Amino acid sequence: MVQFDNARQLVSELQPEVPVVCRRPRLAERAARLFLDNFPGDVLYAVKANPAPWLIETLHGSGISHFDAASLTEIRLVREHAPGATIGFMHPMKMEAAIAEAYRDHGVRIFSLDTMDELEKILRATGHAKDLTLCVRLQVGSDLAKISLSSKFGADEADDAALLQDVRVHAERLGVCFHVGSQAMSPAAFAGAMERAARAVRRAGVIVDVVDVGGGFPAIYPGMEPPALDAYFAEIAARFEDFPSSGNARLWCEPGRALSADTESLIVRVMGRKGDALFINDGAYGALYDAAHLGWRFPAHNLSRDQEGDTPFRLYGPTCDDADQMRGPFFLPDTTEAGDYIEFGTIGAYGRSMVTGFNGYGRFVEAALLDDPFPSLCNGAAFMAAEELTR
Ligand SMILES: Cc1ncc(COP(=O)(O)O)c(C=O)c1O
Repeated sequence: MVQFDNARQLVSELQPEVPVVCRRPRLAERAARLFLDNFPGDVLYAVKANPAPWLIETLHGSGISHFDAASLTEIRLVREHAPGATIGFMHPMKMEAAIAEAYRDHGVRIFSLDTMDELEKILRATGHAKDLTLCVRLQVGSDLAKISLSSKFGADEADDAALLQDVRVHAERLGVCFHVGSQAMSPAAFAGAMERAARAVRRAGVIVDVVDVGGGFPAIYPGMEPPALDAYFAEIAARFEDFPSSGNARLWCEPGRALSADTESLIVRVMGRKGDALFINDGAYGALYDAAHLGWRFPAHNLSRDQEGDTPFRLYGPTCDDADQMRGPFFLPDTTEAGDYIEFGTIGAYGRSMVTGFNGYGRFVEAALLDDPFPSLCNGAAFMAAEELTR
């Protein structure tokens, strides 16, 4: 992999005509260390956030030995790039053939579910296996998160006790799991969900072996500055102490965004300018999906200018579609013009994983960079110890 000190050096040497996804392996190692050293349980990387083989390998090499997969493709990917890892198939509604292959060919023993039908499906597909860890997905609110995951999956309070009791009969290990929504802006999101999960376990009168608090751990984006991750870990640890049967249970989490957001940036080229609108060669159908569809902003540097920017710009992507626009505002130098290169930070989570080939775009090249130019929750003072180790 071609490597540069920073993005300015990259553009001056390569003058790239297609977008560049820039890997930062040091930051992936740092994020892994942060979770492994500070989360009071097992850490499963949620592959969907960024399935790049280099990232799976780097996280695995840094000690992440558990992975959350949502599809057979992700399971095969983890098997190939993180041999020996423990994989959970944590999609609550799966194809029966996918469950069978996961169990038979890839050694997957951990599955999530939120209905009796799915329980029966898992039992059929695995030949009524006796070595299953089955995690009942509970419905929880997403009020404190930027992206809701509250309506599609999760057993509600009317059904969860009966489901937990049924699953307990068939599971070697019974778990509860939930997702508080992605980019949860307060540790209280986890406190509320853990209380709700504890109520379900008490109602059902079952012993649980796993309490999986899911993903939702945030990253820093412009205008979204959550508390330090240690506040999330402390809240979860405190709630886990009071959790029914916690003495016998393992605590798990499934971070996607927080383990991957800082690990990649994106370099694009400006194709043209009309007033405050810049036309660039990636956008809504590429790695800037969240900027277009959720109105998120990403930190932006104009690599072709020396001065920092304070002029607000809108962006248009390369396709012919009105939807291919990112309102921002993105702050760049007023002198920004066609031919300039812009680097967007913090696109490692749900960036490359959303890229499509619409209108013939979607092709990008990759490089590795050594610098650390964007704000990150992983280098806060609370984690100096972990940070020191990676220097
Ligand atoms: C089951 C499950 N676990 C973990 C994640 C990762 O969430 P995040 O990227 O917010 O940490 C997701 C995201 O959709 C998910 O559906």
